[in-house]
Amino acid sequence: MAKQKQKINKRLIVVSNRLPIVISKENDQWGIQPGSGGLITALTPILKENKSLWVGWPGTGGKAPIRKLLDQFGSEQGYKLVGIPLSQQEIERYYWGFSNGTLWPLLHDLLGYCKFNLEDWQTYVAVNKKFARAIKKLNRENDIIWVHDYQLSMVGHFLKKLKVRQPLAYFHHIPFPSLDLLRRLPWKTEYTKALLAFDLLGFQTLRDRRNFVNTVTSLISEASILQRQRNFTLIKYGERIIQARNLPISIDFNEFNNAAHSPEVQDAAWYLHENLHERQLMLGIDRLDYTKGIPERFLAFELALEKYPELKQKISLLQVVVPSRTLDPYYQKLKEQLEQMTGRINARFGDAGWIPIHYIFRSLDNTQLIAHYRTSEIAFITPLRDGMNLVAKEYCACSVENNGVLILSEFAGAADQLGEKALLVNPYDIEKTADTIYQAFTMPLEERQQRMRWLRNQIQRNDVHQWLRYFMRALDGVDSNTDFS
Ligand code: UDP
Ligand code: G6P
Repeated sequence: MAKQKQKINKRLIVVSNRLPIVISKENDQWGIQPGSGGLITALTPILKENKSLWVGWPGTGGKAPIRKLLDQFGSEQGYKLVGIPLSQQEIERYYWGFSNGTLWPLLHDLLGYCKFNLEDWQTYVAVNKKFARAIKKLNRENDIIWVHDYQLSMVGHFLKKLKVRQPLAYFHHIPFPSLDLLRRLPWKTEYTKALLAFDLLGFQTLRDRRNFVNTVTSLISEASILQRQRNFTLIKYGERIIQARNLPISIDFNEFNNAAHSPEVQDAAWYLHENLHERQLMLGIDRLDYTKGIPERFLAFELALEKYPELKQKISLLQVVVPSRTLDPYYQKLKEQLEQMTGRINARFGDAGWIPIHYIFRSLDNTQLIAHYRTSEIAFITPLRDGMNLVAKEYCACSVENNGVLILSEFAGAADQLGEKALLVNPYDIEKTADTIYQAFTMPLEERQQRMRWLRNQIQRNDVHQWLRYFMRALDGVDSNTDFS
């Protein structure tokens, strides 16, 4: 049954580091297209209905006529994009520096990748303030202001300082770590206090919410727990009451499911398997990122081929890596490492007509992406840490014959909802992960179907529209009338 879409009668100001667009140049002509992703799909209808705004950085975009392109997008799409330009120094220190060089690894429990630099932190604070000033100018009394993700976690603090009075909402898309980890951050108290300027904070999992609440109550003496329920905690902070909620983000299940049934996808899926008949395809799809556990995954696959020789010729790992943050030396190193590992494992095991690892370093168009999901007998998704991992959910939504097996890291947020019927692994445990590959490969059809039906049902019932409805309902119950000091 088609789900009712969320309706709200207020103008929304969505705020995220990146605007939901792709700017590109073809035949010397600049063009702008909507980006993709669950958040964009879920928000677009309500953004259109209420002539809303999306505020964010348009990206570097070369010499693109940004303003003209954003205006063109607005008239075509029915909601407005407001670009916040960033200087080279801001990009360096706010984006590459503090957001991606400090918060990203720290919040993913990967301390070894973190750098702590005062100027990066100061620029992060300054850019968050710059966003707040821009929003203040755009804001009308009844607007809903909804900030997304770790790059902008201090925007609420500056909005309150600028006397913006309506309730402020925030969704944290990545993990929130334990205090033991966060305490390494030299500015932990300022960072945590700033988050308390939001009136509603959404997290992906119960663990993230608990870590946040524990951090707040340990670091900030004026904050205390007022009420704790299964899905939310109310925190008292001075005169204000703040709601922290676990609200896992999801996908548009029906959109993926329908697309997987389309003739184009069926054709593309058939071609993918045509050259690999009688062979199971095991799929990995990730942005290039050291959080995704791709080298560990390759090692587990190598060990599986060693331990279970009957897998030879019968299984191939198809690993798609989408280029991301390629200016960061850690990401460049990872790219080289993956190329080397692919070469080594293929040289060690490859045989006539069989390549163990097919490694693709580019993004796929939508038809190809869904065809890959649809045709792969196994999905092998093993991040070291992940806020949610939408790929896991998309794979299940596209497994329309109910015969896919999902191998999933226990450290992905998605494991909280899918763990009952996915094969959960600890990605650091190479030995057991290799055994799990064998388990997936040999799983009888009946068991595959029984597990996949459950997974699909779970995702369909808890799709991104449901997530939006719950978030908006939670926001309805929030009130903010006190200044933040
Ligand atoms: N994706 C994409 N192009 C590709 C492969 C994947 O746009 O070639 C999308 C995929 O559909 C998913 C997103 O990238 O929606 C990845 O989201 P996920 O939560 O798995 O990880 P993140 O990249 O946010 O860390
Ligand atoms: C993750 C983060 C997003 C980020 C995306 C791409 O999904 O949660 O906030 O936008 O990665 O990373 P990038 O640095 O290219 O924006």
